[in-house]
Amino acid sequence: MRPPRGTTGGTTGEIPDGQALADRFRNAFGHAPEGIWSAPGRVNLIGEHTDYNDGFVLPFAIDRSTRVAVRRRQDRRVRVLSTFDSSTPVSADTSGLRPDDVSGWSAYPLGVVWSMLQAGVDVPGMDMLFDSNVPVGAGLSSSAAIECAAAVAVNELAGAALSSSELVLIGQRAENDVVGAPTGIMDQSASLLGAAGSAVFLDCQSQHAELVPLDLAGTGLVAQIIDTKVSHSHATGGYADRRASCERGAAELGLSSLRGLPPSGLAQAEGVLDEETFRRVRHVVTENERVQRTCQVLATQGPSAIGELLDASHLSMRDDFEISCPELDLAVDVARNLGAIGARMTGGGFGGSAIALTPVDRVDAVHDAVVDAFGHASFEVPDLFTVQPAEGARRVS
Ligand code: GLA
Repeated sequence: MRPPRGTTGGTTGEIPDGQALADRFRNAFGHAPEGIWSAPGRVNLIGEHTDYNDGFVLPFAIDRSTRVAVRRRQDRRVRVLSTFDSSTPVSADTSGLRPDDVSGWSAYPLGVVWSMLQAGVDVPGMDMLFDSNVPVGAGLSSSAAIECAAAVAVNELAGAALSSSELVLIGQRAENDVVGAPTGIMDQSASLLGAAGSAVFLDCQSQHAELVPLDLAGTGLVAQIIDTKVSHSHATGGYADRRASCERGAAELGLSSLRGLPPSGLAQAEGVLDEETFRRVRHVVTENERVQRTCQVLATQGPSAIGELLDASHLSMRDDFEISCPELDLAVDVARNLGAIGARMTGGGFGGSAIALTPVDRVDAVHDAVVDAFGHASFEVPDLFTVQPAEGARRVS
């Protein structure tokens, strides 16, 4: 049977197999790698901008990943190279590595090395070659995939034996202190803890995680990603601004985080906060409820019954949190009109992707209608592809 359009997906190409990556490593560095590690990107099913508010999230790791081939060196130099950037390695010395010294994509792996050093890990010198088929800037955590691939590789080669929860914080620290994006722990948690056929329910206050079965195929549904091609950066602008609003709202309510505000407290909060801050707070409080409700509905009725929760999440992000954009709204509307059972923007917002849960026999129709609608609106040509809940970070050879 012909797969639905975009099933193998995207314009980013196939990730080379382990042998091809090892060959490229040998060509670049003159010796064979010791091993290859892999970490996936993620899509968030529901629970947006709740992670840094000590709330709940429900992402899943996807079948798009970053791989890194690594060999330890005798000296203290770390050389990082990628197949998606320049052909010259970026080199740093572990004894003098400082956050200000790194920039560009190498801030992700070198940020992890720095973060490991800060945690007291004796990081050896290494040569590292990265490859990835997670689309960049699409809201699918290409950055967390790089960080987590680096983190699991360094953890093993340094003999550090850090737990997955500790590696999540290593990755987050790289992102916050080296890359400069004030993000939470959702992306690294999904990449490190994901499992095939499951979503990861995470309580970001306790870091307690549970795998939640997400049998989309068994229900005739497909997770269809609509990459609007509107690129975003969480190191600048809106993301940090929303985080600041949430922190201000919590402080004005006398709370250490918005996790402390139950839905029943919203009416009183409305009298205390200014109108805009109240809407930001309302998004977070209601989104936490939607995540918990989604888990309950998945357990009792399965994926075909969560569509309304996804739709409500999108409206809350569009109207209360104001992180959507015309392209994302159009993608969501068209997908819903053509038969998706639920759709929402996913990730940090201001661009990136939407996720639609689409019946398998409607995937082509949604694909064509979204491409047409974007054409009529004179938006850039979107990229549509499907993803599956996949395994988390691990050594692959
Ligand atoms: C980005 C951040 C995450 C999270 C989401 C929004 O992906 O990296 O920590 O805040 O945005 O839910």
